[in-house]
Amino acid sequence: MHITMIGTGYVGLVTGTCFAEFGHTVTCVDKVEEKIEKLKKGVIPIYEPGLDNLVKKNVDEGRLCFTSDLAVSVPFSDAVFIAVGTPSSRRGDGYADLSYIYQAAKEVAPHLNGYTVVVDKSTVPVGTARQVSRIIKETNPSVDIDIASNPEFLREGAAIADFMRPDRVVIGVETERAEDVMREIYKPLYIRDTPIVSTTIETAELAKYAANAFLAVKISFINEIANVCEAVNANVTDIAKAIGMDGRIGSKFLHPGPGYGGSCFPKDTLALMRIVQENGENVRVVEAAVEANSAQKARMVKKIREMLGGSEAGKTIAILGLTFKPETDDMRDAPSATIIPALLEKGAKIKAHDPKGIEEAKHYLPAGIEYVQNAYEAAAEADCVVLMTEWNQYRALDLERIKESMNAPVFVDLRNVYEPQKMKELGFQYMGVGRK
Ligand code: UGA
Repeated sequence: MHITMIGTGYVGLVTGTCFAEFGHTVTCVDKVEEKIEKLKKGVIPIYEPGLDNLVKKNVDEGRLCFTSDLAVSVPFSDAVFIAVGTPSSRRGDGYADLSYIYQAAKEVAPHLNGYTVVVDKSTVPVGTARQVSRIIKETNPSVDIDIASNPEFLREGAAIADFMRPDRVVIGVETERAEDVMREIYKPLYIRDTPIVSTTIETAELAKYAANAFLAVKISFINEIANVCEAVNANVTDIAKAIGMDGRIGSKFLHPGPGYGGSCFPKDTLALMRIVQENGENVRVVEAAVEANSAQKARMVKKIREMLGGSEAGKTIAILGLTFKPETDDMRDAPSATIIPALLEKGAKIKAHDPKGIEEAKHYLPAGIEYVQNAYEAAAEADCVVLMTEWNQYRALDLERIKESMNAPVFVDLRNVYEPQKMKELGFQYMGVGRK
């Protein structure tokens, strides 16, 4: 199959590259010429484990190329995927900004030639795919297209594995012809018995929001249970294990922490709330999860303050991990970007380390932070270490060395990486989340 992927952001680049790996011929198009020039030279704009090698392999084998010119590939494509960004609108009202999608639809229309399936890959409110179809047909009435919605369920840091071994593929289509093309594209997965959920376009669009909102609810739920654990001296890790073994609940996404972040859960929960409001319905559970997530970040600041004896003024705090999760350089809605400014405001001095995210973090965090080369440099002469993001590098730290170099052996573990009892034995004043 010949595929055009519009947008070389996270989703477009990973999806396009993986389709090429399936054996399809893929052209990734982006308006930003500088990005395309870099991609042509093998420079990947994001950090995603394994992506650089997979891009190189598929470029070398002639199945993947990059251009800023839609005319190069759209007329010859069986499917054109739209994978441009849908950030929260600048008005700050939670609506998704669809201008990039509609612009892509307008620009692609004149180049379409012969039967083509136009696929919405970006996360978009219900009705957007139909609107894309309308725009294309208005711009070029002679087109022969079907529209499809094909939401992605990739996690940053594990995107390639998620793509190659998904739990399911969701395809929203309204003609058999379009379904045949979509099934052909995903055939390598089909052969591996991956379930394909074929449904209407609106259902596919809403399924994506429902999945992310459910996961956000699950995280906020366990975070609130963790807070109760602290009050009644219970252990949230054991509770997560105990409830997670129930097949109806499941053990995944029950890790408490400083609150969920990233480019998806915060944005998609708000967008779902707007969709629901517009339709006169309610998602009270999701609203509560969003509120609980903000409260969780504020609670982490209080936790750190308490561990510092009631005030962070003049204290040096070592932050281990800045990105919203490990194995990414993404800082979008990272809890660190809420927690660190609150600490700075109260007069703390911050020394921060992150294995991949420091350059990105500088755009999201206030000035005055000292960025260091490793966890040990961060901890040296600090009054408190805060483990913010559970990078593997922080899972087996030389804790004796850390303790010896600190002003005071205070360790706040926002990801429950270490065992409270062992930390106590090592002489730390230790605090996790939901495990007193
Ligand atoms: C999420 C979904 O997991 C993907 O299925 C979806 O495709 C993607 O959004 C998207 O819409 O594009 P992602 O944001 O990359 O993926 O990362 P997750 O692994 O889901 O983590 C999100 C946040 O939840 C992180 O801040 C993480 O630390 C937090 N989290 C996750 C917890 O606090 N506890 C958990 O148990 C799991």
